[in-house]
Amino acid sequence: MKPFYATTPIYYVNDLPHIGHIYTTVVGDALTRFHRLVGDPTRFLTGTDEHGQKIQKAAAEQGVSPIALADRVVARYRELWKLYGIANDDFIRTTEERHRRGVEAFIARIDSAGDLYTAKHEGWYCSGCELFYTEKELDAEKRCPIHETPCVRTSEENVFFRLSRYAEPLLSHIESHPEFIRPETRRAEVVSFIRGGLNDLSVSRTKIEWGIPFPGRPGHVVYVWLDALANYITALGFATADDALYRKFWESPDSTRIHLIGKDILRQHAVYWPAFLLSAGVPLPTSVWAHGWWLRDGKKISKSVGAIVRPDDLARDFGPDAVRYFLLREMAFGQDASFSDEAFLARYNADLANDLGNTVSRVAALCRQSFGRAPGVPCAANDVHRVYRRVRDEWKTAMGELAFHRALEAVWKLLSEINGYVVTREPWKIRKQEGASRPLHRILYSAAEGVRLAAVLLSPFMPATSRKIFETLGLPAEDPVTADLRWGGLRLDAPLPEAPALFPRADAAAYLKGEPVDKVEPEKREKAETTLAPEPRATSAAAPPETTQAASPSDGKIGIEEFQKVRLVTAKIVAAERVPKSNKLMRLQVDLGSEQRQVVAGIAAKYSAEELVGRNVVVVANLRPAKLMGVESNGMVLAAAVGETGEPSLLAVADGIPPGTRVK
Ligand code: MSP
Repeated sequence: MKPFYATTPIYYVNDLPHIGHIYTTVVGDALTRFHRLVGDPTRFLTGTDEHGQKIQKAAAEQGVSPIALADRVVARYRELWKLYGIANDDFIRTTEERHRRGVEAFIARIDSAGDLYTAKHEGWYCSGCELFYTEKELDAEKRCPIHETPCVRTSEENVFFRLSRYAEPLLSHIESHPEFIRPETRRAEVVSFIRGGLNDLSVSRTKIEWGIPFPGRPGHVVYVWLDALANYITALGFATADDALYRKFWESPDSTRIHLIGKDILRQHAVYWPAFLLSAGVPLPTSVWAHGWWLRDGKKISKSVGAIVRPDDLARDFGPDAVRYFLLREMAFGQDASFSDEAFLARYNADLANDLGNTVSRVAALCRQSFGRAPGVPCAANDVHRVYRRVRDEWKTAMGELAFHRALEAVWKLLSEINGYVVTREPWKIRKQEGASRPLHRILYSAAEGVRLAAVLLSPFMPATSRKIFETLGLPAEDPVTADLRWGGLRLDAPLPEAPALFPRADAAAYLKGEPVDKVEPEKREKAETTLAPEPRATSAAAPPETTQAASPSDGKIGIEEFQKVRLVTAKIVAAERVPKSNKLMRLQVDLGSEQRQVVAGIAAKYSAEELVGRNVVVVANLRPAKLMGVESNGMVLAAAVGETGEPSLLAVADGIPPGTRVK
């Protein structure tokens, strides 16, 4: 049980958080929840970077003091982390006293190593990065390669750190510790930067006041990156009398210390920070893990670019766990990924509403219908258990490699196994033939225990959802512990509460048009859908309808006799015209063999009247008449709702089938 310590970058407080900040924090949370779950002593740190020119400037622009701005933004961060279920052990602000004292002690060590000197400095400064760039890193207009804004020629007397001394020690550390910079591509980038030659680094500023006074250098404040990077150890009590956390999580050779960062701040973390640490005689982090950027329209999502994704709106409309899931599933950690509402909704409906939500509600409903409670007979020798063991190993390996998307894929394999298991064992038939027999208990135990374990494996990613699943299975709604990873944790005969759908299906088309999101709970879905098109991606094999079971309000399924009430017949469209003032509606005259009638269909955006006349279609013939935009409709034409926008595609009828033929 090795101590595990993970940190996020500390965030600038010049503006409100956006999806990029949420991402690193959610990654840190998932990773540390995983380590707690497998039993490692774990610590997770996040916080805010509150000093420097950037903050001073933003505060001046807003007419407030830097600390007032910081207080306001920090409150937003704290709220957001609460909303997203972030279980950080500590939150550090660089304006705190404990941090200032730690920075002073850290600088004193660097100073006594003989690594600081004062000299005049001139260079190209980007206040966005708080970094000097060399001529060769800039374009003809001297623009910053990250922010694409002009750098300013700056000249002042600074304290310098002898970074040049550390080129060789850094290269040799990187070479002998392949895990130090991840992923591989980033390591190569850093090595080439160091090989290009390291200049000494200016680590004080005289032109700004908003910072920690540089010890022993009146008129200088500590360079914001030296100040900020030190947070990773000052928060642990570095160089204080109360340094138990520092000794356990940083100094102990057993501990794993991981910095999670975005690729734009790699140089600071993989060159400057380890050089400072080497100078101060402090151990280096185990790994600096740089992730890619969330892009929109090919550009990094950022405050300055203006392409801000709405973390609050998404969390409000779909729940924070859906956003957490999307971020962790969609981005391969280390690479860039694109954020789009379309991709978000596609995953929401397919992975969460369909695969996860339906599996949980289906298994719980089968237990309720069969026993009125959880199964009462355990079972260990079954396919779900076998697959679980494999999936758990894959999940563990993937988490060790920070491949969150692969860990989630593994959990989805388990969900699909549970569904397949239920379909092939046909518990509804057993119930009909044998009642609540031992075999039925054992089958549903295996399925429900599989669901419980899927929720345990999901808990680092979607903690609130996993607690809800436990509740649905009659278990306490608590974060799981190591023992919960073992097969056999289901409570026999536990009462099962009726639970609302975990992820009600969302009307993607409406949301993408900016209308309020309309979510349809599974049981209401049949009524609300205007077509009988199959699910766009039915990866979870639904249990077939029971032949004798009446409609079940809890799992959304209907019996065959219910279905037979719907009269589906083939028909030929004999006339078509658009409904005035509607983009969508088409008034159709359809021939049903024995009669002709008028049907209004929402297909005008896709089909012209000319394309429609003469087509054979399927019609629901016994719908009660309704008026659509004042035009009477006697039936409904069936179309597949394609893609997330639900574009209608008329169901085809083979040539030679006459109008009025019954569809069964
Ligand atoms: N204050 C510094 C970090 C100091 S750590 C000792 C800083 N702050 S930041 O608020 O600008 O950015 C924090 C993190 O957010 C960085 O890791 C950055 O990569 C990440 N992101 C900002 N925009 C992002 C995306 N569009 N996508 C993914 N992450 C990005 O830098």
